[in-house]
Amino acid sequence: MYKILKAGRLAGNIYEMVVEAPRVAKRCLPGQFVIVKADEKGERIPLTICDYDREAGTITIVFQPVGASTEKFSRLQAGDSFRDFVGPLGRPSELCTDDLEEVKKKKILFVAGGVGTAPVYPQVKWLHEHGIAADVIVGAKTKDLVILEKELSEVAGNLYVTTDDGSYGRSGMVTKVIEDLHSEGKTYDLCVAIGPMIMMKFCCLTTKKYNLKTIVSMNPIMVDGTGMCGACRLVVGDEVKFACVDGPEFDGHLIDFDAAMKRQTLYKTEEGRALLKLQEGDTHHGGCGNCGGDK
Ligand code: NAD
Ligand code: FES
Repeated sequence: MYKILKAGRLAGNIYEMVVEAPRVAKRCLPGQFVIVKADEKGERIPLTICDYDREAGTITIVFQPVGASTEKFSRLQAGDSFRDFVGPLGRPSELCTDDLEEVKKKKILFVAGGVGTAPVYPQVKWLHEHGIAADVIVGAKTKDLVILEKELSEVAGNLYVTTDDGSYGRSGMVTKVIEDLHSEGKTYDLCVAIGPMIMMKFCCLTTKKYNLKTIVSMNPIMVDGTGMCGACRLVVGDEVKFACVDGPEFDGHLIDFDAAMKRQTLYKTEEGRALLKLQEGDTHHGGCGNCGGDK
């Protein structure tokens, strides 16, 4: 069992929890994720790590309830426990594993959308701890949904907050800020965009115009998170990849977001999964217990 030490609402329908998981905290790096299960029969939910404290042996997760399992998570309080908390899974962000001297030469722009701000934070914090100040754009629908602003302001170079409705910070979506920064003469060597699929798609379309390499996190298409269910299959360039074992981070300019989003919709129905199996062969082999692929 994994004890929840702190639980609360960050903003709107977005929750934050600090969980006692010393083995995960000892080994994890930014970009990796955990699989969380509330109880024995619970669904396995992949969640990107938002923060970790190696000394305290804790992991911070941030989530938005979208189904019964995450709704159950949101009802847990400090003192309750998760049945399973498995990780760290997936590959860490390349920024944390590439040659540090090379990373230091890069001017990096992070683009964080909504709940996607949570997985951006540990990367920016890690860079800050290694002497690199990355710029960050945080986008939210409205003022009340901006998360981790204070935490990011302490570790980012420049922090640009924008809201879709203009109720706080700049006005407009994150892509507008990317364009505005470009017009203001800011140049970058690398962009990391994490948020809803549609945001990552349009960020990539925008950065392509500036020939700015852009890394995205394909966490939203994961289901079981262990390479078993086949849900997160995607084509990157001309290679077939699985977000949970080969990613979750990939070169966004090599991803066909429309195909990935269409596949995600198909995967949600039994008929759709059967069609995918017919089209793609046995990559969807079931076994996760909740995707229906083993029926
Ligand atoms: P949201 O819909 O509020 O969008 C956040 C921001 O993204 C907006 O404020 C806007 O600036 C930008 N955005 C949205 N649509 C855009 C478009 N068409 N063009 C340009 N920019 C656009 O986000 P939310 O409700 O907080 O997000 C929930 C989603 O985030 C879930 O679907 C979840 O899967 C995803 N998510 C992704 C990751 C990841 O690793 N990629 C991590 C956590 C959550
Ligand atoms: Fe990657 Fe299931 S989420 S195979």
